[in-house]
Amino acid sequence: MTDATENGTKDDTSTAAPWWTRAVVYQVYPRSFADSDGDGIGDLGGIRSRLGYLAKLGVDVIWLSPVYPSPQHDNGYDIRDYEDIDPVFGSLSDFDELVADAHSRGIRIVMDLVVNHTSDEHAWFQESRSSTDNPKRDWYWWRAPREDGSAPNDWTSAFSGPAWTLDEATGEYYLHLFAKQQPDLNWENPDVRQAVYAMMRRWLDRGVDGFRMDVINLIAKRAEFIDGENRGAGLGFTMGPQIHEFLQEMNREVFAGREGEYLTVGEMPGVSIEDAVLFTDPDRAEVDMVFQFEHVSLDSGAHKFDAIPLDFVALKTNLARWQDGLAERGWNSLYLNNHDQPRLVSRFGNDEQYRVESATLWGLVLHLHRGTPYIYQGEEIGMTNVRFESIEYYRDIESINHYREAVEEFDASPASVLAGVHARGRDNARTPMHWDASEHAGFTTGKPWIEVNPNYPEINVEADRASSSSVFDFYRKLIALRHENETVALGDFELLAPSHPTLYAFTRTRGTETLLVVANVSDDAFDGDLPVDVTGAGLVLGNYANDTGGPLRPWEARLYRL
Ligand code: NOJ
Repeated sequence: MTDATENGTKDDTSTAAPWWTRAVVYQVYPRSFADSDGDGIGDLGGIRSRLGYLAKLGVDVIWLSPVYPSPQHDNGYDIRDYEDIDPVFGSLSDFDELVADAHSRGIRIVMDLVVNHTSDEHAWFQESRSSTDNPKRDWYWWRAPREDGSAPNDWTSAFSGPAWTLDEATGEYYLHLFAKQQPDLNWENPDVRQAVYAMMRRWLDRGVDGFRMDVINLIAKRAEFIDGENRGAGLGFTMGPQIHEFLQEMNREVFAGREGEYLTVGEMPGVSIEDAVLFTDPDRAEVDMVFQFEHVSLDSGAHKFDAIPLDFVALKTNLARWQDGLAERGWNSLYLNNHDQPRLVSRFGNDEQYRVESATLWGLVLHLHRGTPYIYQGEEIGMTNVRFESIEYYRDIESINHYREAVEEFDASPASVLAGVHARGRDNARTPMHWDASEHAGFTTGKPWIEVNPNYPEINVEADRASSSSVFDFYRKLIALRHENETVALGDFELLAPSHPTLYAFTRTRGTETLLVVANVSDDAFDGDLPVDVTGAGLVLGNYANDTGGPLRPWEARLYRL
């Protein structure tokens, strides 16, 4: 984007920090955002029609979850063709119009890049599977069965069941760390890498402003394929020895000569702080920031769907460790939900009695950390989790496979498995966006591909914006603050009262300015001493209309300038 306006690049020369240090990203999950043609599935036309809404919110970047042609086994994370748009979402010319419209409003567009795997319907895989001597055979991971005919190793797929599927045509197994319709590409083959880089360059030439890279630390494998290596904390199948080499090569091949213009964020399950420093150190030229998973793994037991109570102290001290770890080199992404995670207000707040208060509390806390905040569609109006009464209503391959496996193979009780899906399932985030109180929440005039959350008559954009305690309005202020205030964007972070069981308190300092956040993460008032005396300090922003200056009320959050 060259002609940036209010949110863009022009005035970024005033500081050496890259533009994305002051940016806020909004994630659109296209299937569920807005449907313009009445087929019940969101599309590019729908997104275009809502750009005014996003401009009003003030976001700088839209990250689009995948819109490429796909059989949609994993809602587009199984790509059949990297060069086109799925007709369900529109056409390439619709895409060009979306990019042009967004750019004219100063909003950049970041594409999802899903290159750990393709769809099994991708032409590359079709060729690869056709014979053992096909030139593209080595573009994927094929292995002969073990002597007893079983899979080459015991790895399991992230979506239940084995990570290898036998292909009858050639009698060999192929690797898929996700669904069997998502075969893993072999990044050790230089032709694969060059094909991906060429594709990325074509999207940049088309006008996109960067990439969110799906499970990008999985592209480098430990190709010895050792039994047991993809279980538990070890995650031996991520971060293979060539990961940094591949990302540096990608950076050179795709972004050379265009440095600084783009945003790259690598989704990296299992990434540690030490690794993240290496990935995001600008001198190493790999990615601008990573999505780490530690803070969203604290409230799960042995298994993702095994929901356990959140230890609040563990959460804030974990995020503080990431702040400290990337303070000198590297950069954090900041998120509390996305299309794979439950809604933040249901998970970390009180989505009934204090829905608005807890939604805005977490907005303030997150956006005042150092890093680039990501808002997931609907978060800005405090949308909540959904509780469908039967698995029949669920559409997510991960939840459905997990349910089947647990109930049918491991004899778990359907009610207990459903409870896990209610708490952790990905469809919590994927029900349609609530625009208004009309039928299907104004998302579609047709039949939505997944049921709308029944609470849409109360929780929707129109109602929120008409309310005197609008969550949208509060997010708008948070975003504006990051644009205006260098301390919010770049200030040093210090966690205060780290072991306090309900108080989230920290400072951000830059030059002579110190900002203080105090937040009461509780249904009860907080009338203890704050870790810093705020007498005489100016209130910059608070999430209750009438600031009493007294004890913090339930889920009250305040930002002071000391
Ligand atoms: C991570 C994506 O965010 C998720 O939605 C997807 O299912 C997997 N990667 C596989 O692509």
